[in-house]
Amino acid sequence: MSTDRATILSGIQPTGKLHFGRYFGAVENWKRLQEEYDCLYMVANYHAMSMPFQAKRLAENSWEICFHLLACGIRPENLFIQSLVPEHTELAWILNCFTSYGQLGRMTQFKDKSAQNEEFISAGLFTYPALQAADILIYRAGVVPVGKDQEQHLELTRDIAQRFNNFAGKEFFPIPEALYTAVPKVMSTADPLRKMSASQGDKHNIDVFADEARIRKQIRSAVTDTGTEAGGDAGAMSAGVSNLFSLLAASGQTEAHASLLQDYTAGALRYADLKEAVADGLIGISTQLRSRYQELKSDRKSVKNQIKQSSFEVRKRAQATVREVKEICGLAR
Ligand code: TRP
Repeated sequence: MSTDRATILSGIQPTGKLHFGRYFGAVENWKRLQEEYDCLYMVANYHAMSMPFQAKRLAENSWEICFHLLACGIRPENLFIQSLVPEHTELAWILNCFTSYGQLGRMTQFKDKSAQNEEFISAGLFTYPALQAADILIYRAGVVPVGKDQEQHLELTRDIAQRFNNFAGKEFFPIPEALYTAVPKVMSTADPLRKMSASQGDKHNIDVFADEARIRKQIRSAVTDTGTEAGGDAGAMSAGVSNLFSLLAASGQTEAHASLLQDYTAGALRYADLKEAVADGLIGISTQLRSRYQELKSDRKSVKNQIKQSSFEVRKRAQATVREVKEICGLAR
């Protein structure tokens, strides 16, 4: 962990599985960023409690995502579990007191999620962005790789940091910047107008760790066009076909991509050929990840210990910040 490199923090909720949308959209980028930054990647299990949850599932999913991320090439020393660093919640409380109530009410994610869930809306769902601010500021992270859906939360984090700095009378927290890397936007193969997503059901996402037969089956049944688009004209490529081409490019099949695109432009593309190429590309990735995952699983205990150890190391950094914050706020410690 070198200190002269800028610190990155990002989090992933331990819900659902790791599908190709998340893989190409986030995890692959996280992996690359490790070459350039001091990276901290967090399993956001406290965040996952803000919506209805089950204890057993939360526990299983939190470890499972660690194995998944490690299999994808996230280094164990860069990965930790949020609840093993309880200072996040301590700082979240303090930052809650520097967060505008009105601004929290304007968060679109709060509005969307509270609309999904009419029976019980927790106060945690409402104050969640203050916890997210704590996740970032506790490590004084300057760079936060997130998707566009997190833009508003990051804006709020910046406001909170600013308000705290004004209170402290110094630039205590660096004002974090979002890092939006151009990543492929992966759509559901069953409904290419919607994002690939775990919450929409099994046919709307392809598990990175699925076996070969399953991946091939899902790609073979991908929606190509609805019959309303004109074929052969590059300007009118259907959402489904375009998604298959992006998957092909994302999986590194550049040659197949070029030659099939040529077929498409010539009006000679057979969808079956495109689908086979996409399936081959995804299976190539999945096969590697699966074997890496099996290896990690065969050594379950020591992998878990590694993550506990890295969480313990990360915690020292969090504790140092909280100590200073309490001092600034006049809290006994
Ligand atoms: N809220 C993020 C999501 O749902 C996950 C997350 C939690 C996060 N804490 C974070 C992302 C801090 C970036 C920084 O995707």
